[in-house]
Amino acid sequence: MPQPISENPPPVPADPAAGPTEWNSHPVGVGPWGEERTDPLPTDPRYDPELLADGDRRNVVDAYRYWTRGAIVEDIDSRRHPLHIGIENFGHDANIGTVVRTANAFAAAAVHIVGRRRWNRRGAMVTDRYQHLEHHEDVEQLMEYASAHGLEVVAVDNVPGSEPIERVELPRNCLLLFGQEGPGVSAEAQRQAALTVSIAQFGSTRSINAGVAAGIVMHTWVRQHADLAAAW
Ligand SMILES: C[S@@+](CC[C@H](N)C(=O)[O-])C[C@H]1O[C@@H](n2cnc3c(N)ncnc32)[C@H](O)[C@@H]1O
Repeated sequence: MPQPISENPPPVPADPAAGPTEWNSHPVGVGPWGEERTDPLPTDPRYDPELLADGDRRNVVDAYRYWTRGAIVEDIDSRRHPLHIGIENFGHDANIGTVVRTANAFAAAAVHIVGRRRWNRRGAMVTDRYQHLEHHEDVEQLMEYASAHGLEVVAVDNVPGSEPIERVELPRNCLLLFGQEGPGVSAEAQRQAALTVSIAQFGSTRSINAGVAAGIVMHTWVRQHADLAAAW
């Protein structure tokens, strides 16, 4: 039975075999405020009294140490990008956690799961708690959302007729839609998208992992539209 990932795990190694990104396997973050610094406890309401007392071992950037989750989300909300991420989940795609984590890293406005509501959260490594997530029953609903919010939908798949991402200027108000292992982006989504883009490949495999593809294309958007001076 998989163990739920604690957001503030104990600093003692829980699993010596865990990989380098399984941060509950070694102490990261900070201990109680009084052990880390000599200045008085902050009274700013963004700080969480429990984290100040017990330490903060969460997977958050140093700027958010000891902050409540609500305060962190509010701060990211104040500077999220007009970049939305969609992923089709008609067959239970295992890559959604990775997509959510990367969307969080790039301060995407929201991640939209299309199809099944349930998805494996393990790959998200708790980042989903700071990321707005929306669910849509089908592609039609997603497209309605995009049109109501002024977003241009860009399908991402290496199918005939797709344009190379390496040469395309992505729309600023953008919803990038990824497909799932196996079928890829559904024909319906490709038909309704403003354009479909592909990532250049040179080897024997038909495609790359959907989570990796999402990282590449999200970063292309970041390179084209984000204010790099505002990055951590
Ligand atoms: C494993 S692929 C499957 C579909 C693929 N068209 C095929 O023929 O096998 C799953 C998803 O990853 C993304 N993907 C993988 N490789 C890609 C590439 N070279 N260009 C664009 N998207 C890609 C797409 O979103 C795709 O729907």
